[in-house]
Amino acid sequence: MANSYNIAVMPGDGTGPEVTAEAVKVLKTAADKFGFKVDLTEFDFGGERYKRTGETLPDSAVEELRKFDAILLGAIGHPDVAPGILEKGILLKARFELDQYINLRPVKLYPGVATPIKDKGPDEIDFVVVRENTGDAYTGAGGFTMKGTPNEVAVQSAIYNRFQVDRCLKYAFEYAKKHGKKARGKGSENTLGLCGKTNVLTFIYDLWERAFHEMGKAEYPDIRRDYYHVDATCMWMVKNPEWFDVIVTGNMFGDIITDLGAMIQGGMGIAAGGNINPEGVSMFEPIGGSAPKYTGKSVINPLAAICSAQMMLETLGEEKAGKKIEDAVKFVTANKLKSMQAGKMGYSTSQVGDLVAEQLQLS
Ligand code: IPM
Ligand code: MN
Repeated sequence: MANSYNIAVMPGDGTGPEVTAEAVKVLKTAADKFGFKVDLTEFDFGGERYKRTGETLPDSAVEELRKFDAILLGAIGHPDVAPGILEKGILLKARFELDQYINLRPVKLYPGVATPIKDKGPDEIDFVVVRENTGDAYTGAGGFTMKGTPNEVAVQSAIYNRFQVDRCLKYAFEYAKKHGKKARGKGSENTLGLCGKTNVLTFIYDLWERAFHEMGKAEYPDIRRDYYHVDATCMWMVKNPEWFDVIVTGNMFGDIITDLGAMIQGGMGIAAGGNINPEGVSMFEPIGGSAPKYTGKSVINPLAAICSAQMMLETLGEEKAGKKIEDAVKFVTANKLKSMQAGKMGYSTSQVGDLVAEQLQLS
């Protein structure tokens, strides 16, 4: 019997619905082509619903989402809603409640895609960031005292416990073992690099560093271990991106370096990610936001959403379909699109989805 997957689709705000429609188009084409089934259920959580009902992501919805095999998300963020409400109430709530403790963000330059980094191409820009996704400054621990007075104090704590660090490292080492440069035939060893700040954050990154070397030594002696401070990581991502293989880091640094990563791989239009709970329900989303100024114009690039759907299929075990979608995307970037930027692709949003789907059909 054909494998069948129940997928929750949350198009969300702004250009989210436009790019999600193209990801769904490609997903359906892949299902027909490679003989599996997808059953899609749409949810309207986002800014419009919040404005209408005051509801972000209710607990009952979290319980419902738990029953799906995966979630495909468009974008969350609305110009009429104060910053933080939808992000915390929907995106971070889903990540935390569903315990999606890994945020997997490949930084991969596809053929034909322009990078702002001179003299670097697809061979040099090809690494992955494993961002921890539940701890750090994201837990909401902190507060104000004397708010609004000249003596106001604000504290927001970066928090990690050993359990969170260990489970993230485990995933990262396993990822490096299976998908590192040696595993992909692109180098003589698989490397996991810890990105931290042990010279200043002498508590949390000390914990990370000790846990990293303990696990590496005991369980992954064949994986090379590197350490880089986060500031130096930013420098090398621009100067020598080819030095990186798999990077593991905390939530906050991971957030920051993956925006830089998105830029060197050609922009937000092509940067995909997955919020992964290896034991539960994962949620896949383009890294770019809701891009309100492009909403409804059919000019936004759907490739990041399409690549997120590809990552979803790979995580579900449909590796062949995932690989073929990636090949189709590469064909389209190499041969069709003029640019990755909104409005400059030479095609509309839905035409780009058609190009990928057609190429997939031919594969
Ligand atoms: C991301 C975003 C989110 C984050 C925001 C929208 C809460 O920037 O997915 O990288 O900080 O994680
Ligand atoms: Mn971010």
